[in-house]
Amino acid sequence: MTLDELKDQIKTIQLQFETETSAEGLRTKYLGKKGLFNLLAKSIGKVDLDSRVKAGQQLNFLKAYLNNKITQKERQVQANLPWLDFTLPGLKPKVGHVHPISQAMAEITGIFERIGFTRVRYPEVDWDWYVFESLNMPPNHPARDEWETFFVDTPVDQKKGKLVLTTHTSNGQVREMERLGSQPPIRMINIARCYRRQQDATHTQMFHQFEGLVVDKGINIQHLKGTLDYFAQEFYGPGTKSRIRPFHFQFTEPSFEVDFSCHICGGTGQVDGNKCKFCKSGWHEVGGAGMVHPNVLKAGGIDPEVYTGFAFGWGVERTYTLKEGLNIDDIRLLYSGDLRFLEQF
Ligand code: PHE
Repeated sequence: MTLDELKDQIKTIQLQFETETSAEGLRTKYLGKKGLFNLLAKSIGKVDLDSRVKAGQQLNFLKAYLNNKITQKERQVQANLPWLDFTLPGLKPKVGHVHPISQAMAEITGIFERIGFTRVRYPEVDWDWYVFESLNMPPNHPARDEWETFFVDTPVDQKKGKLVLTTHTSNGQVREMERLGSQPPIRMINIARCYRRQQDATHTQMFHQFEGLVVDKGINIQHLKGTLDYFAQEFYGPGTKSRIRPFHFQFTEPSFEVDFSCHICGGTGQVDGNKCKFCKSGWHEVGGAGMVHPNVLKAGGIDPEVYTGFAFGWGVERTYTLKEGLNIDDIRLLYSGDLRFLEQF
C-alpha cells in the first residue's frame, strides 16, 4: 500500500464519521479492538518501508481526531444538548397579525382624528366618582343598575368612593375636562376596555368602547348628528345613514339611542319583498349619545351657561361585527384565541 492510498482511507473514515448523528456506540465502532481504526492500523505493515514513519504519523493523527470528536459528542449527550445539524434548512417563525378588534380601533381612531379629535386613554380600573357619580349618578341611584358592575375589593376613597372595573368609557369625560384644565374646546376620542357582568353571543365580560366628547361654545345636536353621519359613511361606506331616537341617560340631556342603516337592505327593512334577516327593521342599534348634562360639565369645572357639548359612546365589537360581509354571529369568537377564526381577518 502506498502512503497516498493510506491517506485516502483515512479520509474515508473521517467522512464516514461526519455522517454520524448519535454518539451511541461510536467509541467501539471507531476505536474499539475490532474498530475501524485498528483495522486500518494493521495495514501499516503493508506500507513501503521508507513511508512507514509518515504513515504512523497519519494514523496517530486519525486516532487523535476520532478521539476528540467522539469525546465532544459524548459531552453533548451528557449535557443533554441536542446534536445540531447546521446544514438543515431553518424553521420559519409564524408571523402573526393585528387582532381584528385592534384593527377596528385603529380605523375608528383614524376616522375621528381626521376631523380634529384627539385619541386619549384613561384608567380601566377607576373610581366610582369618574364612572358614575360625576356623571350625574349619585350613590344608590337606580340608573346605576343598567351597568352590571364589577367592584374591586379595596379600601374606599373618601372623595372618590370605590374602585370599579370601568363599565363604560364615559369615565373619560370628566377626566378629559380635568386634563385640559376645564378649558374647552374639547374633542376627545377615548377607546378602552370595559367590563360588565354578562356573557352571551352578543356580550363578553371584557369588551371595548369608544367615546366621543365635544365641548365648546355653541355646540348643538346638529353637530352630534353630523358627526354620527360622517362616522357611518367612513366606517360602513357611502350611503350609510345614522338615526337618533329619544332615550335616557343620566349624563346627557336630551339623550338618544343611535342606529345605523343596514347595508343589506339599504335601510328599508325589506329584501325581495321579505323582512331583512340581518336587521329586521332597516336599522342596527349601536349605542348611546346626547348633549352633555350641565351637572357633568360642572363636575369637570366647566360653566354650562357658557359651554355646551355632545357625547356618544358604544361598543367596538358590536360596531365592528356589523361591517359588511363579516357575518360574525358570536362575538365570543373574537376572544377565543382560535387561530382558525382569527387568521381570516
Ligand atoms: N356610556 C353609555 C353606555 O355605556 C353610552 C353613552 C355615552 C351615552 C355617551 C351617552 C353619551 O351605554
